[in-house]
Amino acid sequence: MAQFLISLPALERNAQLLAEVAGASGARLLVALKAFSTTAGLGTLRPYAAGCCASGLYEARLGARHLGGHVAVYSPAYRESELAELLEFAHHIDFNSIPQWQRWRSTCLAHPRVQSGELQLGLRINPCFSTGHTALYDPCVPGSRLGIPAEQLHGTDLTGISGLHFHTLCEQGAQELIDTFRAFEKQFGSLLASPQIRYLNMGGGHWITKPDYDRNALIDLIREIREMYKVEVFLEPGEAWAIHTGVLRARVLDVFESLGYRHAILDVSASAHMPDVLEMPYRPDVYAVHPSGNGTPAVSLPGEHYAPAGEPGAKPHTYRLGAPTCLAGDIIGDFSFDHPLQVDDLIVLDDMSHYTIVKTTHFNGVPHPDIAVLQADGKIRTARRFGYADFESRLG
Ligand SMILES: Cc1ncc(COP(=O)(O)O)c(C=O)c1O
Repeated sequence: MAQFLISLPALERNAQLLAEVAGASGARLLVALKAFSTTAGLGTLRPYAAGCCASGLYEARLGARHLGGHVAVYSPAYRESELAELLEFAHHIDFNSIPQWQRWRSTCLAHPRVQSGELQLGLRINPCFSTGHTALYDPCVPGSRLGIPAEQLHGTDLTGISGLHFHTLCEQGAQELIDTFRAFEKQFGSLLASPQIRYLNMGGGHWITKPDYDRNALIDLIREIREMYKVEVFLEPGEAWAIHTGVLRARVLDVFESLGYRHAILDVSASAHMPDVLEMPYRPDVYAVHPSGNGTPAVSLPGEHYAPAGEPGAKPHTYRLGAPTCLAGDIIGDFSFDHPLQVDDLIVLDDMSHYTIVKTTHFNGVPHPDIAVLQADGKIRTARRFGYADFESRLG
C-alpha cells in the first residue's frame, strides 16, 4: 500500500527550534492544525507548543484533546451550534467580519467565560499589505473575504474585543513580517496601543524552521511589540512545525508508451492525495528508490537509497507520472530518471506531511456534507451524516 510516512524525530527538530523562538521572544507559538493535524504526530509537538490554532469546532476539539494548552479559533463564519460549543472551551475566538461580530457579540459577552476573561474575543483584520506572489495564498488580494480592512472599524462598537489577529504571509521570512507589521501598525497602531487590546496574533506563514530564516529579527520584533504595546503576542505557524518531516511512498503499477510519452502509473493520485499539486500547482521533489541513489528525502530508511528525479529530458529516462484514476489531468508531472522504471519500483514524493495529508482528509476540519437521497415519495432521506468522529478517525 502507498504510505504517508512522517518522521517523529524530524517533527521534534522543528518543534525544538520553534520552542526556542517562543522562549527567547516571549511569544506563544500555536500549531495551525489546518497545516498538520495527524494525531500520531501531535504528541511529539505537544511539549513544545503553546496550543493550537483551529479553523473551527472540529480542529478546536482535536487541538484541545491532542495538544492541550491554548485553543485559538478563527473561522470566516461561525454556525450557532459551533459557537455555543466553542464558548465552553476555547481561549480566543476571532471574528472575520463586522457582521459576524455584531451577530454573535451579545451571545459571547453574556457568557461567563468571557466575563471572567478566560475566553477573549478578537477581530481578524486585513492590513491590505501583500508580500507574497501567489494569489491563491494571499489574504490581502483585492476583493479578499479574509479580515476587516481599517476603514470598516470606524464607528463599530468594539466593546468586548480584546484581540487583533492578522494572517497575511505564506512561506515567508522575518523581513516580510516586519514590513507587514509596520503596515499594520500605521493603520491599527492606536487601537493596538489602547488598553482594551490584550493580544496580537500575527497568524502563520512564518518559515521559522528554514535554515536561512532570520530568527533573531523575529525575536527582536516580538520583544519590541510586547514592550511597546503591552500585549501578549501569538504566532500560529503550520508549515513550520511540519516542513520536511514526511514523504508519500508510492509504487509503480504500470509502465507503457502512448502518443509519444512514456507513462508510469503510480498507486497514488494528485487529485485524491496531493491536491495542491494540481491546485497550486506545484511540482514535488521525486526520488526513485534505487541502489545508485544519493539523494536525501525528508524521511529515509536504513538500507534504502534515493535517486533524485530530474526535469524531463535531464536524465536518460523520462516518464509522465500519473494516477490510477479516470481524471485525464491527474498527473503528478514529467520526471526523468537515471534508470528505467519498472512495475513495483518504489517512488518517494518529498515533503508531503504539511497540508497534503489534511487536504486529502478534512481540510480545515470543515464538516463533511451529509449524503442524502430524494426518494420517489418526494421525501429526503439522509443516507449518511458525518461527524467529528469521522474527522478524527481519518487523521491517524
Ligand atoms: C489564519 C491562519 N493562520 C495560520 C495559518 C498557517 O499558515 P502556515 O502553514 O503557512 O504557517 C494559516 C494558513 O492558511 C491561516 O489561514
